[in-house]
Parts: sequence; C-alpha cells; structure tokens
Amino acid sequence: MAKLIGGLGTSHIPAIGGAIHRGDQQTPYWKPFFDAFPPIHAWLCEKKPDVIVIFYNDHGLNFFLDKMPTFAVGTATQYVNSDEGWGIPSLEPLRGEVDLSWHIINTLIDKEFDVVTCQEMLVDHACSLPLKLFYPEGNYPVTVVPVCINTVQFPLPKASRCYALGKAVGQAIQSWGSDKKVAVLASGGLSHQLDGERAGFINKQFDLQFLQSLESNPEWATQFSVHELVEKTGTQGVELLMWLAMRGALTTAGSGVKKVSGSYHIPISNTATAVLALEPNN
Ligand code: DHB
Ligand code: FE
Repeated sequence: MAKLIGGLGTSHIPAIGGAIHRGDQQTPYWKPFFDAFPPIHAWLCEKKPDVIVIFYNDHGLNFFLDKMPTFAVGTATQYVNSDEGWGIPSLEPLRGEVDLSWHIINTLIDKEFDVVTCQEMLVDHACSLPLKLFYPEGNYPVTVVPVCINTVQFPLPKASRCYALGKAVGQAIQSWGSDKKVAVLASGGLSHQLDGERAGFINKQFDLQFLQSLESNPEWATQFSVHELVEKTGTQGVELLMWLAMRGALTTAGSGVKKVSGSYHIPISNTATAVLALEPNN
C-alpha cells in the first residue's frame, strides 16, 4: 500500500512568483519568508515523496462564480497553469497521478463526499507557487492530485467538514494499491483580507494559536463556524481550511505529528504568511 509520509503548508501570495522571477529571495523584504524553506528542502530531499495531494482553492481561473463546486478533484494527466494577470511567467504543467485521483474520488464518494471530478483543470497560483517554493529547482520530481476546496463564494464548507474531508483523503492514500510515497500539501492563508473595509486585516494571535493547534490539538479550529473564521482571520484568511484538510489527512498516518520545520512572518503583501512541514509519528 502507499505511504503517507508528511504534510506541507505554505501561503500562496502571487507576488512570491514575481520575487522568484526577479531573484529577490535574499532581499530584506523577502528573506524572512524564503528562509523558512531550506530545512524543508532537505527533508524533501531525504524523504522523496513521489506524489503530492494539494489542498487548494481556485481563485476564478478554473471555476468562476457561475459554477462553484464545494469540493473538486482533478483526474487529468497534466494541469496547465495559465497567466492570471499577475505577470508571473507561466510554469511548466504539473503532472497528474491519475490512478490516485480516481482512487481518492471513489473513496470520497463511498464516504459520502460527493465531489466534482475534473478530467481537465487549469490550476492557478495556489497550486503552482507551493510546488515552486518546495521544489525551487523546477522540473518537479512529483506527480500531483489537486483537491480544490471552495473558499471564494459563499456558502463555504465548514471547518469540521474540511477536516473530515482531509481524513477521508488520508484513508484513500493509505489504501491506494501502490508502493509510492505520498505527501499532502495545504496552500493558502494565513490571516488576510484583500478588500473591503477590513483590507489589510491580520490576526497574529489567532494565527499562532492555529499553527500550534495543528501540532497539538488539530480539531481546535473545527469549533468555529465559517463566519467566525472570516471574522477572526479575514475574508481570504479562511483559506486556512486547506491546512485543516491537510492535518485531517495526517491523522490517518500515525498518532500525532512532529514538526520538521515552520515559520510565521508578517506581512508579505497584506498577508500573514506561514510555512510548515509535519511528519506523522509512527
Ligand atoms: C494575496 C493573497 C492570496 O491568498 C491570493 O490568493 C492573492 C493575493 C495577497 O496577499 O496579495
Ligand atoms: Fe489565495
């Protein structure tokens, strides 16, 4: 059977793509963010996952407001990243892991998560940037399964539902008839609000408590309604639902987790950034 070897998390602010393109990683503004990655690169180099299941939210590239699935899973052989208007150079297409995609979909439907299946899927900065950050050399040595969670148009799925979705995805990974190593990845957050009266809103105290809960008490954030999460973290901060799904998946891989590395830095753009790698305790 396949093995779930760990969980990754990172913010996905599009400006990061511009910084990578310009080679700005060591400038004072960007250094605190990029400095979080080398220990995780070393961990990835040692553990060598073959496949990454990415929990992310589409921002209007593949799904627009006229058709908005709550949960969608890609089953494509490749996922093209289109220019979203940020001027980021387009990245090479991500390679799909089709067999795992269908195994995840079959498992999810069996567990009463009636997901949308996408045999074609464009992926935006929320999929491409994390891979660029975790594999800066390019030519990603991994295949992917994109799992899209709606955090863009209400109604959004509850925190407890996203955590349960993550658990079901974890069970699917562990029951996949393959000898491959799989990691799960959360893309988004942490607290941020890009528009409206509270634009620029950041809640450091909540973010730090949330990050700590992922290590020691992963169900902590499921006590909050989506509206409470928006109130506490901002309209886009609710992207932290991806981190709950990632952590839910890890519950199926061992008893508790060990932090490999992580960081929290304010701000990039108007956003509180976090980077994390967790390993299940076996
Ligand atoms: C920013 C953050 C996001 O999560 C996003 O999807 C787009 C922009 C930002 O902070 O600029
Ligand atoms: Fe976003």
